[in-house]
Amino acid sequence: MNVGILTGGGDCPGLNAVIRAIVKRGLQFDYEFTGIRDGWRGLINGDTQKLTRNDVSGLLPLGGTVLGTSRTNPLKSEKDTKAVMDNIKKLGLGAIICIGGDDTLGVASKLFDMGVNTIGVPKTIDNDLSATDFTFGFDTAVSVVTWALDRLHSTTEAHQRVMVVEVMGRHAGWIAVYGGIAGGADVILIPEKPFDVDEVCGYIMQRKARGKKFSLVVAAEGAYPKQVGGMITKDKELDAFGHAKLGGVGDFLAREIEARTKQESRFVVLGHLQRGGTPTAYDRVLATRYGVHAIEMVKDGKFGRMAALQVNKIVDVSLDE
Ligand code: F6P
Repeated sequence: MNVGILTGGGDCPGLNAVIRAIVKRGLQFDYEFTGIRDGWRGLINGDTQKLTRNDVSGLLPLGGTVLGTSRTNPLKSEKDTKAVMDNIKKLGLGAIICIGGDDTLGVASKLFDMGVNTIGVPKTIDNDLSATDFTFGFDTAVSVVTWALDRLHSTTEAHQRVMVVEVMGRHAGWIAVYGGIAGGADVILIPEKPFDVDEVCGYIMQRKARGKKFSLVVAAEGAYPKQVGGMITKDKELDAFGHAKLGGVGDFLAREIEARTKQESRFVVLGHLQRGGTPTAYDRVLATRYGVHAIEMVKDGKFGRMAALQVNKIVDVSLDE
């Protein structure tokens, strides 16, 4: 069988480890592999490359994705959807393993309903996919946040400042909570629970009163104050899946805190540092387990499903879920 592999959405540490595992395990079933370039865009344009054992050798620690990625939504126009269906036929793809987050896997689910043999692998640093305990890439992002907080701790304390650290996660607070706990943050703000600026300032003042003259605040990019009533965005532009570019809560909070507490404040946006570079050992192992399971799902004809981690076992669940 000729199996297609694509990586879609924001890149994520461990993508290459999944690709490598799929190909290495799949060669034992005598499958051939077609790498689809730049996510769904590659299937619209017929932009592909063969993937051999040599092509995937050495990929385990590599960040990014050797296949490239994009946030293209092929279901947005009928012309693009038709091009995808035609190219699947032309390339002779018996199955497509789609490595992505909610958008990429949403498309995979719809294509399955249209008769394409899709299988999903849950990727995202945000860890915001249901039906799996952890997505690969999340652990690496949390490690970066922890590393950054350790460094910011000393400079924040030395200057007796408040440091607001804005982290990624879109509508989910997983990175903020895990990174914040691991890095010993004093305040953690998440999108799921709108915060009160006065309450945050009150807590910082309480710390000061008991001799802790510095504070570290971790704010998820989607966290927002009750008073504002909605997430803070960089501009009005939306991507192909209708997502706004989040960002600015760190700057906003640092200003508010300084104005209200009179304590000097700074902010740091960790941004794409959380997504780039080599995956942690945990993510390399998880990505490998997902890749092996995904190609075994192809062998077993388990299409329309996603590999998932549940109570430390790799299982599979329907893409719908
Ligand atoms: O979904 C992953 C993610 O890194 C989010 O945490 C973040 O909001 C978004 O992607 C940023 O996307 P881009 O790389 O397109 O700026």
